Amino acid sequence: MKIVSTAVEVQAIAQEYRDNGLKIGLVPTMGWFHEGHLALMKEAGNRADKVIVSLFVNPIQFGLGEDLDNYPHDLERDCKLAEEVGVDVLYAPTKDLMYPGGFSTTVHIEGLTSGLCGADRPGHFDGVTTVVSKLFNQTLPHVAVFGEKDFQQLAVIRQLACDLDFPIEIIGHPIVREKSGLAMSSRNSYLKKDELNAALSLSEGIASGRKLALDKKEVSVQEIKKTVADVILKHPECDIDYIEVVDQATLQKCEDVTSDSMLVLAVTINKRIRLLDNSKIKGS
Ligand code: PAJ
Repeated sequence: MKIVSTAVEVQAIAQEYRDNGLKIGLVPTMGWFHEGHLALMKEAGNRADKVIVSLFVNPIQFGLGEDLDNYPHDLERDCKLAEEVGVDVLYAPTKDLMYPGGFSTTVHIEGLTSGLCGADRPGHFDGVTTVVSKLFNQTLPHVAVFGEKDFQQLAVIRQLACDLDFPIEIIGHPIVREKSGLAMSSRNSYLKKDELNAALSLSEGIASGRKLALDKKEVSVQEIKKTVADVILKHPECDIDYIEVVDQATLQKCEDVTSDSMLVLAVTINKRIRLLDNSKIKGS
């Protein structure tokens, strides 16, 4: 596996792949790999000849008081894991290389970014769309794989690729979970032992909401939201940032529960650890 840190190097490698007729798959990440990241890398490997993984803790997508300074990192560990799943290039630029003095461009998407996580984290999605645009130009991929765990992010990236004519197929990968049901996340490493049950309440809440929709023929959005909230609020460690039922394509709030409805939620544990989860309400 090649490990590179500059845009010039990774672009030259990508161009050579392209000149040789090879298809490139990109997986953008912020590191501290878990099985969710590794599944995305394997998926990219199934869809492309060469896999490039970017590892960059992107400062401009973190707000003041968020966990930028504590974000877990261990490049050696991540390199080993990426190599084991057959990644060809690990691209890990520094902050100064990504955003040199004088950097002054922001990519902003209207609409999709205003609700849910966008409402709680102003500027977050501008940071994501700006860095992902740079990564697309630096690594020249044919396909890029993103996780459904960050459901709004995936919708925003699809919009980005469409609006800015990036000739890149955007692939969504289902959420990878622990046996317990907990959605894997780099931020799970912040959880102390006695916070695990609170963290588990996200997936348990979703399971209760889905069961209600299965058991009752007519179920309202309000009933679903209340059922999920009741499960989560049994844990005093939990503050609900949002629980919403939204259309899976537009992210607009649903008035009725349909086969296109997604249950999406964000919960903060002990004011420190913000976790996300989501699921279709009906079907798999
Ligand atoms: P990060 O949180 O490191 O996630 C990298 C990719 O892994 C994202 O596409 C995310 O949705 C996916 N992912 C994380 N946990 C997952 C899980 N349990 N199952 C499936 N996929 C999972 O998301 C980011 O980094 C950044 O915002 C980034 C896109 C790299 C831009 O900086």
